[in-house]
Amino acid sequence: MRTQIVAGNWKMNCNLDESQHLLNALNQKNFTTTDVEVIVAPPYTNLYAAHQSLKDSPIKLSSQNLNENEKGAYTGEISPAMLKSVGVEYVIIGHSERRVIYKETDHLLAKKATTAAKHNLKIMFCIGEVLEQRKEGRHFEIVKEQLEKGLFHLSATEMKNVVIAYEPVWAIGTGETASPEQAQEMHQYIRKVIADHYTIKIGEQTSILYGGSVKPNNAKEIFAKEDVDGGLIGGASLDADSFADIVMSF
Ligand code: 13P
Repeated sequence: MRTQIVAGNWKMNCNLDESQHLLNALNQKNFTTTDVEVIVAPPYTNLYAAHQSLKDSPIKLSSQNLNENEKGAYTGEISPAMLKSVGVEYVIIGHSERRVIYKETDHLLAKKATTAAKHNLKIMFCIGEVLEQRKEGRHFEIVKEQLEKGLFHLSATEMKNVVIAYEPVWAIGTGETASPEQAQEMHQYIRKVIADHYTIKIGEQTSILYGGSVKPNNAKEIFAKEDVDGGLIGGASLDADSFADIVMSF
């Protein structure tokens, strides 16, 4: 069976106090009663303290980004070794906000994936089309291209440490979600693309998360779909009760 995952992408929210407060609240939730893997991705400045707070917790720690280089003159950037040193296990790569606002290209994301894999960081690789592309009926083509250019240079062994997050850009922070059917259709397609490039087994084993306005009131029907293995949650991950409700939606 594939790992079911619910991950909270906090984006640029929560100073250190707020972060610790949210983690304390999450630590009160009984995530040990579920098989769902729970991950949080606080901002860089809160990672070390978060790691300390989560020492006795099943909650895993992710960063929201990393730099593709090992070290050196890259002012303002954070290396994979730095992330490892503060207890980070996962990295989010290719979030649409990085692609769109910070102009991160497939080529750059491919380098980031290589660097993360080399440092044994697990990858949550985000893909998804913008509204115009969906209206033009190009969403499958776009998602396939993002996978091929950004991820498929990884070896089959490295792919075992990759989780895909399908986040249609038109559903992020908009309150509009893909319907469970739209999510299922795309997730099934993504799994086939992975199976065709690697093996059927790798396709079957890769967890594919849905992201885009997932809330406690819609998580259950989205997660019920066969190829949806969980969610990458933005806004609703900033509230411990909402996030826990989503985790418990399986
Ligand atoms: P929202 O859940 O706020 O739509 O954000 C989704 C997202 O971008 C998670 O990475």
